[in-house]
Amino acid sequence: MPERSSGAARLRVGVLASGRGSNLRALVVATRASGVRADVVVVVSDRADADALAYARVEGIPAVHLDPRQHPTREAHDKALIGVLDEHRVGLVCLAGYMRILTPELVRHFAGRLLNVHPALLPAFPGLHAPRQALDHGVRVTGATVHFVDEGVDTGPIVLQAAVPVHDDDSVETLSARILEQEHRLYPNAVQMLLERNWRVEGRRVLAAAR
Ligand code: GRF
Repeated sequence: MPERSSGAARLRVGVLASGRGSNLRALVVATRASGVRADVVVVVSDRADADALAYARVEGIPAVHLDPRQHPTREAHDKALIGVLDEHRVGLVCLAGYMRILTPELVRHFAGRLLNVHPALLPAFPGLHAPRQALDHGVRVTGATVHFVDEGVDTGPIVLQAAVPVHDDDSVETLSARILEQEHRLYPNAVQMLLERNWRVEGRRVLAAAR
């Protein structure tokens, strides 16, 4: 990431979200209330009715709807998306329930500055419906993962993880809610860690030393 915690510089964060936006909210609250030296400076959604956009507007954060139907190809759409994020000079992009597959071009453009949060302990249960997958498999422990995004689906190097127990009487809803609580803690912590620690990616591992 180009802008770190040195001096007064604060990291400019762009958030991509397609829906509810609870992770967006957690990031905004953490950056405003705690010592995370970052600001969410733009929220972009592929859905006009995303609660994430409504929340951003209420909070006075630029909220951009990029309609995929307005672009002839996925590449054209992501080019416009890169344009919006660059225009807001973001140093970090956080995917928070963004439901579109990113083009390799966008992933390369933001390499090393693109994070996602996933509701499972990756590499278990990538893709959609991770809590459902965990219940169906019968695991006793699942969790949440914040990882760098590479060109695969939920395959990039792992920044932080949190374990969540699976209870015998869990439904998809109760398990998802318990995981979500951890996501809300983990995502701001991951941003904080990347800002404060001297991190590097070695192979698949994100190694973070004290500064
Ligand atoms: C979260 O469970 C996240 O892990 C997944 O999508 C969901 C988004 O929820 N990628 P929200 O929109 O942040 O509330």
